[in-house]
Amino acid sequence: MLTDNHGRKINYLRLAVTDRCNLRCFYCMPEEGLNWLSRKQLMTYEEMQQTCALLVEMGIEKIRITGGEPFVRKDIMKLLTALSELPGLKELTLTTNGVLTAPHVAQLKKIGVKSVNLSLDTLDAGRFFSITKRDEFSNVMDTLNGLLEHDIEVKINAVVMDGKNTQDIIPLVELTKDLPVSVRFIEEMPFNGDGHVYTGLKWDYVRILDEIKNTYTDLKKLDDPQYSTSYNYQVPGHKGSIGIIAAYSRTFCGSCNRIRITPEGELKTCLYDNGVMNIKDQLRLGVTESDLKMMLLKTFNSRAKDGWEAEHLRAANQGVHESMATIGG
Ligand code: GTP
Ligand code: 5AD
Ligand code: SF4
Repeated sequence: MLTDNHGRKINYLRLAVTDRCNLRCFYCMPEEGLNWLSRKQLMTYEEMQQTCALLVEMGIEKIRITGGEPFVRKDIMKLLTALSELPGLKELTLTTNGVLTAPHVAQLKKIGVKSVNLSLDTLDAGRFFSITKRDEFSNVMDTLNGLLEHDIEVKINAVVMDGKNTQDIIPLVELTKDLPVSVRFIEEMPFNGDGHVYTGLKWDYVRILDEIKNTYTDLKKLDDPQYSTSYNYQVPGHKGSIGIIAAYSRTFCGSCNRIRITPEGELKTCLYDNGVMNIKDQLRLGVTESDLKMMLLKTFNSRAKDGWEAEHLRAANQGVHESMATIGG
């Protein structure tokens, strides 16, 4: 079993395959996009597979593919298929914005993907456009329907943004009445590629919960799965459930089981750290597998205790300016 210097189990890798995206969500990147990474800067699929194989051997049991938007990277199904065949990997999953996903749903099912997290902040096509700057709402809904038809578990991720989509909280809860989905409301974090100034969190998990309880006074608390990032609830009689992710308040760091690899191959042992080593660079320098393993273990043994400490330890300690897409969620 892989553990860190605080006794936390590490068994979950979030692998970001690209920084590119076909949406421009306000909270993630500016409308003009980012200064995209070149092909050479990205990890190749071979490098990703080699790294994943080693990490699974070391104790990683779950891999989540993120981005940017995973389906924007060419031939992403090839990588997913190869990873699905890794001996020892218990769960392969992904987080997608759903714009290009629908045509791949049957294949995802076939390779054994049992759950997908779908980013969707509103059920109103007009507000979808104003948040994402792209007219893709119907494609995302097609993906949602396709996933449900194929019996793939769906979690919907909705970032709660003051002045942008708080009127969507209740309609999103209503979606769980007839659909067996988990709608998770996420505190906005300052990873917006510097597109706008982060003025502090107006909707924290307590306020989001109060807003929901105002309408659903009989809201029931569910047991939270081990390592869950969300506090989970259900409206009695609804098929689905809801969750609240205190991503900014960082209430779940004490049981954090995850590491991240950015599209450039940078290993992060916390979402809020600056990166602790570059795996791609080591592979390109010809590192041996045993040396790489030692280096990885060393980073796992010097993890910050929580997201507050990681943020504090950032080199410049100037706050967080990068986009979620370059970190990989
Ligand atoms: P499950 O594996 O289904 O529980 O999902 P997940 O929460 O691990 O992943 P997902 O990609 O759906 O992320 C949902 C939200 O939680 C995103 O806004 C993530 O950035 C945030 N999140 C995920 N992991 C962490 C973490 O370690 N720290 C913080 N602060 N936020 C996180
Ligand atoms: N704050 C909170 N969540 C964010 N995501 C992207 N940017 C932010 C942010 N600034 C979410 C997306 C996606 C998940 C991986 O991260 O909605 O569902
Ligand atoms: Fe794209 Fe996801 Fe960022 Fe939105 S949050 S711009 S869907 S990478």
